[in-house]
Amino acid sequence: MTDKNDTKTVALACDHAGLPMKLALLPVLEQLGLNPLDLGTHSGDSVDYPDFAELMAQALADDRASRGILVCGTGIGISIAANRHSHIRAALCHNSTDARLSRQHNDANVIALGARTMGIEVALESLTVFLQTDFEGGRHARRVEKMTPTVRMPDVM
Ligand code: RB5
Repeated sequence: MTDKNDTKTVALACDHAGLPMKLALLPVLEQLGLNPLDLGTHSGDSVDYPDFAELMAQALADDRASRGILVCGTGIGISIAANRHSHIRAALCHNSTDARLSRQHNDANVIALGARTMGIEVALESLTVFLQTDFEGGRHARRVEKMTPTVRMPDVM
């Protein structure tokens, strides 16, 4: 990770379906010398994934972490919810190629994984690649910039 505001802290959040995978991913952060910020959920009781996407959005907005990991059953719901926030670029990754390109081309700051749709070995590899790959910039920076909302002047009647 080479972000300018790199805090070496990576936030994790999941719903009940994602809990086992989130717990299995935690050691990767330690292996890479990164600090986990575990935003829950912490039990198998049924919860709503948008609530945990919201906690992730807050943690990144407050600079309590520079990257995030989201896990739900498919990774779909929690990534849709997180991407409602303009400072979040959550990439739903199914393999390490997705993870690498989400960093190189899209400057994704959050990886979303599906606990019910991918094996743990592929998830571990994808996360490792995600955390170790830099944004390429250049033409990709222009495209990412086009996804960043600008302040719009109100329409003049
Ligand atoms: C929870 O049952 C499940 O719907 C959720 O984890 C996720 O897969 C939604 O996208």
